[in-house]
Amino acid sequence: MRISGDHQFIGQVDVPGDKSESHRVILISALSDGISRISDLSNGEDVARTLAGVEALGVSTSTDTSGVTVSGGLHLPHGGVTLDLGNSGTGLRLMVGAVAGRGPGSVTFTGDESLTLRPMDRITSPLSQMGAHFRGSGERQGLPLVVTAPTELTGISYDVPVPSAQVKGAILFAGLGATSVTTVREKVDTRQATEELLGNAGVAITETRDSSGARVLTLEPGVPQAREWSVSRDPSQAAFFLVAGALSPSGCIRIENLVRDPARWGFLDVIERSGARVVRSDDGRVIEVSHGTVLPFTTDGAEIVGLDEVPILTVWAIMANGTSTFINVGELRHKEVDRLAACAEMATLFGATASIDGDNLQIVGIGGPPSQQPSIGWRHDHRMVMASAITASLGAGCHLEHPEAVNSSFPTFYDALDSLR
Ligand code: S3P
Repeated sequence: MRISGDHQFIGQVDVPGDKSESHRVILISALSDGISRISDLSNGEDVARTLAGVEALGVSTSTDTSGVTVSGGLHLPHGGVTLDLGNSGTGLRLMVGAVAGRGPGSVTFTGDESLTLRPMDRITSPLSQMGAHFRGSGERQGLPLVVTAPTELTGISYDVPVPSAQVKGAILFAGLGATSVTTVREKVDTRQATEELLGNAGVAITETRDSSGARVLTLEPGVPQAREWSVSRDPSQAAFFLVAGALSPSGCIRIENLVRDPARWGFLDVIERSGARVVRSDDGRVIEVSHGTVLPFTTDGAEIVGLDEVPILTVWAIMANGTSTFINVGELRHKEVDRLAACAEMATLFGATASIDGDNLQIVGIGGPPSQQPSIGWRHDHRMVMASAITASLGAGCHLEHPEAVNSSFPTFYDALDSLR
């Protein structure tokens, strides 16, 4: 696909429903004891896989123009079942947790080439401690992964070693079906979608801070209440256009109805202190970003919780005049592709200089829009493909390989991009 250059990023953009919330409201509704209505669900393939997954586990769903209806009662069919989660790491990890708590029974999980290679030991380790059994491929429990859920799962007290909202979520979803209380402790605050949405569904979950400041979540086993959900817009998809608005001369982008969770907005702090003009509504759900200056930055991975916005911040680093540094971003190696290498490659293809030193990434920017027109793309990485398209549209264009990768999270991405010429 040809992406043209010289876009004007001025206007209001609509982005899909939040992917994190979407996976979780589907699972909470599927684990509930009634009928839930969900509006503004993400229209990406990842979330469609989660919906198809709960259907294969006995949940009936129906979709019309106003949203999706999901009936509770998720159960593991006799004789087992195989679920294909495609490209979706979040859907997979959360669903493995949900399944582990609904035993007895067994489910086999598969996925695409990228998902097959991603480490699942980060969830199988705590879930094994709770009493579930796993048979995955290789040391890191890759796909195909057979999950055998016991009749009785025991709650645990678990310190999440690498900050991860997916791991926290998997344990809490499993904990709903346990016979005792589950406690999860995280040193770095990760996104709060699981605990917030479970609380909204009437589940007894409390949050405290221990003496070191770590967040401790305590969950009682229980059945979520069915209810009406309205999913907020996804900050990580908004990031592509908000950052583009700040990079484009006279750019100004406004996006409404966004998720408020502070753990999602680290990227906005980074560009604000690097020269972007940012206006936030009082409730934090409407953001407007306009062009100011484009200074290089230094950020620690803990500021970009989950690291989903590193690809679009790399675009900023490419266009800044000077050296930008991402510190402690080694976890990028375990995303849809090795995003540490991919970000460095993208920067280089657009004319910047990039180097990786251990878990740090340094980019010397070109101080303006790129003039290169590379052929670029990653077959299994929606965020790298979108970041590449944004870089090209601010510069001289590119040939985009695997444009279809955006379908996993943002099927209308190119329409939104085309509307901003
Ligand atoms: C997500 C958590 C993050 C993020 C992913 C969505 C979630 O992953 O990268 O896109 O919804 O829980 P980690 O849990 O690996 O940080």
